[in-house]
Amino acid sequence: PHEVEAWAAQVRELARARDAVVLAHNYQRPEIQDVADHTGDSLALSRVAAASDASTIVFCGVHFMAETAKMLAPDKTVLIPDARAGCSLADSISADELRAWKAEHPGAVVVSYVNTTAAVKAETDVCCTSSNAVEVVASIDPDREVLFLPDQFLGAHVRRETGRTNLHVWAGECHVHAGINGAELTARAQADPDADLFVHPECGCATSALYLAGEGVVPAEQVHILSTGGMLDAAKNTTKSSVLVATEVGMLHQLRRANPAVDFRPVNDRASCGYMKMITPGALLRALQEGRDEVHVDAATAERARASVQRMIEIGQ
Ligand code: 13P
Ligand code: SF4
Repeated sequence: PHEVEAWAAQVRELARARDAVVLAHNYQRPEIQDVADHTGDSLALSRVAAASDASTIVFCGVHFMAETAKMLAPDKTVLIPDARAGCSLADSISADELRAWKAEHPGAVVVSYVNTTAAVKAETDVCCTSSNAVEVVASIDPDREVLFLPDQFLGAHVRRETGRTNLHVWAGECHVHAGINGAELTARAQADPDADLFVHPECGCATSALYLAGEGVVPAEQVHILSTGGMLDAAKNTTKSSVLVATEVGMLHQLRRANPAVDFRPVNDRASCGYMKMITPGALLRALQEGRDEVHVDAATAERARASVQRMIEIGQ
């Protein structure tokens, strides 16, 4: 503990000296979450990045998040402690693939999850995150076709919630969330039928959670399909003594902090994102000492991509 405190003091001192704000996603390692100025989901962190007065943003998260911050704050220096921290979901569609898909559906509105590269965002009309995907799609003229990408499970969730039949979904997935499967969720829910279920819509088991509710295995009011930020709000308000959590395991740290009286248990304790965990305490320290890895987005791409992110931020504000 003493070493962690000394490291945290050093991080804070270096951040002050660099006029840097440190942002951490909810899936970061606990010590990174605790040292950050702001911890949150991808939408909340994009908003903080856009509004911050600091001249440097240190983004403890994955590359597309740091890229989004750079697009929203092009005059700021944006650092990611390890530029190799990618995302399997963002890798599941390229800008060329998206252009080809658009050519098959002329006139369709393109809605991309923020877990995409800047080049894909540049081909997008409006971005969304898991906390506002339903709202974003609901805001689109019901007569227009929608191309939703890249996550198939989030896409299925949006289709269910909006009832839209003209929504086409790309077959991408996040390897961590896709691996949280229905069989595991069912077994855990059957063993603890009084527990609330918090399920991220990127999970392979999101449909199973609704099935369990439909079949009466778990009362419907105990099943919550939520973004990481939504889970945090729900954690503060749950009346249950235990909650089964289907998302990346880093989330448990924030949930337990938000409501220490509740027993938060992972549906799959191996659901850890290796990319998120590349941001180690040592990497954060190095980033602040050496000013790297700096994130750059080509100006023309950034300009086109920024519009899609800004449209998202404006919806629901
Ligand atoms: P949210 O923080 O938007 O819920 O995103 C989940 C995720 O997988 C980000 O990588
Ligand atoms: Fe990407 Fe999945 Fe990791 Fe999130 S948890 S950063 S979606 S690979």
